[in-house]
Amino acid sequence: MNSRRNFVKKTVLAGAGVSLLPNVSFGGITKLADQKLKLAFIGVGLRGTNHLNNALRRNDVEITAICDIDPERIKIALKKIEDNNSPKPKVFGSNDHDYKNLLELDNIDAVIISTPWLWHTKMAIDAMKAGKYTGLEVSAANTIEECWDLVNTHEATGSHLMILENVNYRRDVLAVLNMVRQNVFGELVHFRCGYQHDLRFVKLNDGKSAYGKGVEFGEKGISESKWRTQHSVLRNGDVYPTHGVGPIATMCDVNRGNRFTSLTSNATKAIGLHNYIVKHGGEDHPNAKVKFKQGDVITTTIETAKGETIIVTHDCNLPRPYSLGFRVQGANGLWEVDGNRMYIEGKSKPHQWDEADEWLKKYDHPLWQKHGELATNAGHGGMDFFVLNAFVESAKENIAPPLDAYDAAAWSAITPLSELSIENNGEPQDFPDFTRGTWVKRKPYNWEKSKY
Ligand SMILES: NC(=O)c1ccc[n+]([C@@H]2O[C@H](COP(=O)([O-])OP(=O)(O)OC[C@H]3O[C@@H](n4cnc5c(N)ncnc54)[C@H](O)[C@@H]3O)[C@@H](O)[C@H]2O)c1
Repeated sequence: MNSRRNFVKKTVLAGAGVSLLPNVSFGGITKLADQKLKLAFIGVGLRGTNHLNNALRRNDVEITAICDIDPERIKIALKKIEDNNSPKPKVFGSNDHDYKNLLELDNIDAVIISTPWLWHTKMAIDAMKAGKYTGLEVSAANTIEECWDLVNTHEATGSHLMILENVNYRRDVLAVLNMVRQNVFGELVHFRCGYQHDLRFVKLNDGKSAYGKGVEFGEKGISESKWRTQHSVLRNGDVYPTHGVGPIATMCDVNRGNRFTSLTSNATKAIGLHNYIVKHGGEDHPNAKVKFKQGDVITTTIETAKGETIIVTHDCNLPRPYSLGFRVQGANGLWEVDGNRMYIEGKSKPHQWDEADEWLKKYDHPLWQKHGELATNAGHGGMDFFVLNAFVESAKENIAPPLDAYDAAAWSAITPLSELSIENNGEPQDFPDFTRGTWVKRKPYNWEKSKY
C-alpha cells in the first residue's frame, strides 16, 4: 500500500472513529455511511484508470464491476485492484453492449463512464434507467437530441447524473469562484475560456506508436487517437467545450438564475493535422490524403440571459503550450489566467496588473483548504481527487450532484450548436432551455458551504 493511500485511509479512519464525523473528508452523515459505495467502471482506458486509481485510495468505495472491450485495459485495471488487496470485481467487455449486463447487477450503487464520446449518452441513459447513480466523463453528449435524452431520463427515472468536469475543481478556478461569490469582480460582464491543448501527438501517450510519430488514428491508433481524431475528420465544431465552459458556467450561475441563450461560432481553415502527418509520416503517408473538416481554431461567442458574453476557443491541432485561457471580468476588474494576472479597481495600482498569486492565495477556496493535502498526486494538479470525491459523496447520500444533468446538457449543447453555426456562416443558434424555465428559481450550488 503506498504511503499516500495509507495517509488517506488513516485520515478517513481517524475521522471516522467509531462512527463517521460530518466534517471530515470522506465523512458526512450519509445514506451509506455504514457501508461502502459499490462502484462500477465502464471504460478503463486512460481516464477510467485515473478514476480507478483515485477510487482505490478510498476506504469508502468497493469496486464491484469493471467493463472494457479492450482486454489489455482490463488486465491493467485488475492488476491495480489486486495490488491494492481489493476484492476482484466482476468483469465485462465481451462486446460493445456487454456494459448492459454489468448494469443489471444489484451490487452496484454507482457507475463511472469513461468511454469514447459517442458512447456517453447511450451508456448514461442505460445506467440511469438501471437506477445507478451515474458519473459521466466529458463531454456528455454529441447532439441536441442526446442532451435532451440525458435530461429527460434523469427526470423520468429520478436517477442522478453528474458530469465529471474536473476543471471546476482546479485550485485557481475555485479561488476565482470564491472571489466571484464575494463580489470582488462586481457585476459580471465577460468571460473567456477554451480548450487549447496541442493533441496532435496524443497517440504517443503510451509510447507504443507503430510509426513513432503519432500520425496514425482509428484502428491503428492508441487510446484517444483510436476515436477522437475521427471527430476532426467529420465535425467542424467545438467538440470539447466543457473544460473551459464548466467553470465559467458555474461562476455565472448558468441553469441557476442564468442560462446560455445563444451562440455564434467561426472556424479557421484546417492545416494543423495535415502538416503534422506530412512532417512525421511523409507526404506519401496514406493519412496525408485525409481531409480534416475541423478548423484548427474554433471561436464561439455565447450570450447569457444576464447579458454576459463568453468567448470559448477550441485549439487542439496546432503547436502551442496548454492553456484553458480563462478570463473573468466584471464591473470592478478581471482575472486572466494567461499571464497569471489580476486587476481590481481601487485595490490594484491604476492601470497595472497584480500577479494573481496573492489574490488566489487570499481567496483560496474552503474546499481546497479542507482537502488540499488529500488531493496531492490525485492527477491533473489535484482536481481529479475533488471531482471523484464530490461524485462519491453525492452518490453515498443519493443527492443531486454539484454538476448535474442540466449542466451536462447545456455545456455539451455547445458542440452541435457550434457546428450548425459554422455551417451557416456564423449564424446565431439558440440554446434550448433544458431546465424548462426552472433556471429562474433554481438556486446556485453552495460551493462555499459544501463538504465536497
Ligand atoms: N476530465 C479529463 O481531464 C479527461 C481526460 C482525458 C479524457 N477524458 C474523457 O474521458 C473519456 C475517455 O477518454 P480516454 O482518454 O480514457 O480514452 P481511451 O480511449 O484511453 O479510453 C476509452 C476506453 O473505453 C473503452 N471502450 C470503448 N467502447 C467501449 C464499450 N462499448 N464498452 C466498454 N468499453 C469501451 C476502450 O476500450 C478504452 O479502453 C473521453 O470522454 C475523454 O474526453 C477526460
